[in-house]
Amino acid sequence: MDERKIIIAIDGPAGSGKSTTARCVAQHFKYVYIDTGAMYRAITFAALRFNIYPDNHEKINELLETTSISLKRNETGEQRTFVNEEDVTPHIRSKEVSENVSYFSSVSRIREAMVEIQRKLGQKGGIVMDGRDIGTVVFPNADLKIFLVASLEQRAKRRIAELPAQSIVMSFDEVVENIRQRDLLDSSRDHSPLMKASDAIEIDTSYLTIEEQTEKIIVLAENIIRRKSL
Ligand code: DC
Repeated sequence: MDERKIIIAIDGPAGSGKSTTARCVAQHFKYVYIDTGAMYRAITFAALRFNIYPDNHEKINELLETTSISLKRNETGEQRTFVNEEDVTPHIRSKEVSENVSYFSSVSRIREAMVEIQRKLGQKGGIVMDGRDIGTVVFPNADLKIFLVASLEQRAKRRIAELPAQSIVMSFDEVVENIRQRDLLDSSRDHSPLMKASDAIEIDTSYLTIEEQTEKIIVLAENIIRRKSL
């Protein structure tokens, strides 16, 4: 592993700006960007398609044994999410998946399977991975850990702005309720809840632009890379 190619973990609640920021940071360093939320959304989409409930452990095990979740890049460099060989990217941000994903992502078996894939993807370094438990569980030794936060109102405004491009119709109140509910479930689950790692650097993005928050992380990462190159 090239010592200078570091692992950057970016965690935080829904709508805190993780994906856009992580993607920009990865582009800057020519690293691979991995959106782990997309993986939990993909397995949720697959479970819903087969009418599997999160508490049906037998069916969840069967689903995990017969389903491979993978992330691939298309010719423009955009991350696409696959369930077996099917590109499910257009479906994983639907209202139905958003309303159910926190229930499926609290299932231990599902988390173990996703974490195993994530660790393999990141083992060579040179990655920016975003999620809820990257700095605490997936890569507790990540070189740089960032925890992004923002007010509920700002997070909901950002989500609302993304919806038309994804052809999703949801009211502002529905988005607020969905984020509030996911915050609660994601931070209170038993298995690897959303939590700031003790050595993570917290950045409040409520009043920062994407460029500003990206720049802050780039500066922090460059310092670490410089130190590793000495
Ligand atoms: O990042 P996102 O909002 O697309 O994530 C969707 C859900 O997936 C989120 O509500 C919780 C879950 N998730 C998780 O439990 N652990 C991760 N590392 C990433 C996402």
